[in-house]
Amino acid sequence: MHKKREHWATRAGFLLATAGSAIGLGSLWRFPYMAGENGGGYFVLLFIGFTFLIGLPVFMAELTMGRRSQRGPVLAFTELAKNSHIWRLVGWLAVITTFVILSYYLVISGWSLNYAFMSLNQFYKGKSYDEIVQVFDIVYKSPQMNVFWLFIFMIMTGGIVFGGVRKGIEKWSRILMPALFIILVGLFINSMTLSGAGQAFKFIFSPRGSALSATTVLNALGMAFFALSVGLGVLITYGSYMHSNDDIPKTALIIALLDISVSLLAALMIFPIIFTYGFQPQEGVGLIFKVLPVLFAQMPGALLISTVFFLLIVFTALTSTISLLEVLVATSMETFNWTRKKSAILASCAVFIFALPSALSGAGKFFPLWEKVYGKNFFETFDYLTGSWFLPLSGILTAVFVGWAISPEMRKKEFIEGSKYKWVYVPWLLILKYIAPLAIVLIILNKSNLVNIDAFFCRN
Ligand code: TRP
Repeated sequence: MHKKREHWATRAGFLLATAGSAIGLGSLWRFPYMAGENGGGYFVLLFIGFTFLIGLPVFMAELTMGRRSQRGPVLAFTELAKNSHIWRLVGWLAVITTFVILSYYLVISGWSLNYAFMSLNQFYKGKSYDEIVQVFDIVYKSPQMNVFWLFIFMIMTGGIVFGGVRKGIEKWSRILMPALFIILVGLFINSMTLSGAGQAFKFIFSPRGSALSATTVLNALGMAFFALSVGLGVLITYGSYMHSNDDIPKTALIIALLDISVSLLAALMIFPIIFTYGFQPQEGVGLIFKVLPVLFAQMPGALLISTVFFLLIVFTALTSTISLLEVLVATSMETFNWTRKKSAILASCAVFIFALPSALSGAGKFFPLWEKVYGKNFFETFDYLTGSWFLPLSGILTAVFVGWAISPEMRKKEFIEGSKYKWVYVPWLLILKYIAPLAIVLIILNKSNLVNIDAFFCRN
């Protein structure tokens, strides 16, 4: 029979670990760069809307599935649907997407670690703004550096997951999440004093007709899922370590609010710098690494601020990579009956190997012709495919699954168990059953030019 499953030690531990999974490079690195590339405005507002309207309900759906089934994604889908093979495939889609996201996420995490290390060496000293920005290109294009830091990050993540859920994940999240929040607020206040702050606010919050396209809508949906950690069974796995008296709707709402605040704080900290120093919002994947050091370099205590900031990014990235790797480990433990240690080692090796082409993308060493064929390099291709397609798709399928395929009595009982907010059940179910599936169908039709929603929004 099943081995006894490890559970979270305390309620705060569960909340912090889930928040740790949600808050990470998604908010601090991906959201600002995507907001820049998608023209701010609509993208940001859609991101906020999708987070609450679709992301949050799917978040609750995953926790419900996890706590009910006491399984990772593949078995959760299979067992809750009475061994249906079709739904098992959805579990596997989630696992494969997790694998791919983790691989390139580790590369960016490696850059953060590299920047923390470089900050300790005051790499910006005596350089002009342009020279500081160019340091990123050197980092990006160096094969050795990318592989080295990727390797270090993989070892850190693998080591913590190897040690088990409670000891590893809970302990770290408890200390580092509050520290990150404090430094972010400090930097945000500082950015508000810059001359570009007004322009940044306008860029981020004011919707401009011409910038809305189906691509922006899909990107915003994917971004909302990415930042919340929903859609890939991470929360099924974390939910399976929950206790029956934990409150699902309340936990989900707290995390969504935290996640949105961190994403917006990050954007409001970065865009004033961009406009004050005359950079472009469309800098792409290197945005935060190029722009932030320019600001840090002029602050009193630059050494400390820059090093601590990048270290905190490293830690939030780590709480997210842990959650992604945990899915792969939980899945291989229960599907192949491996031990935690064996699963952690094998999964880490596999992810490391698949991450290599991403790490070498900037150098153009692996698949040198990739960009010519696909229009984006290896790493950008997978960021786009998983972030904007696989992730929303597998998230919406989770909504359909919980909305239509599982037993209604069991669903209701599990959802309201331990919760003071039982009334949330009905609106939650309506969204899972109708609104979330409809939203994705509309977006896909629109993207393939079969229906034109843009016409409803564009004013010019
Ligand atoms: N949410 C994390 C971030 O913002 C990334 C992440 C961790 C994730 N686990 C996930 C994204 C599961 C999608 C699904 O950095």
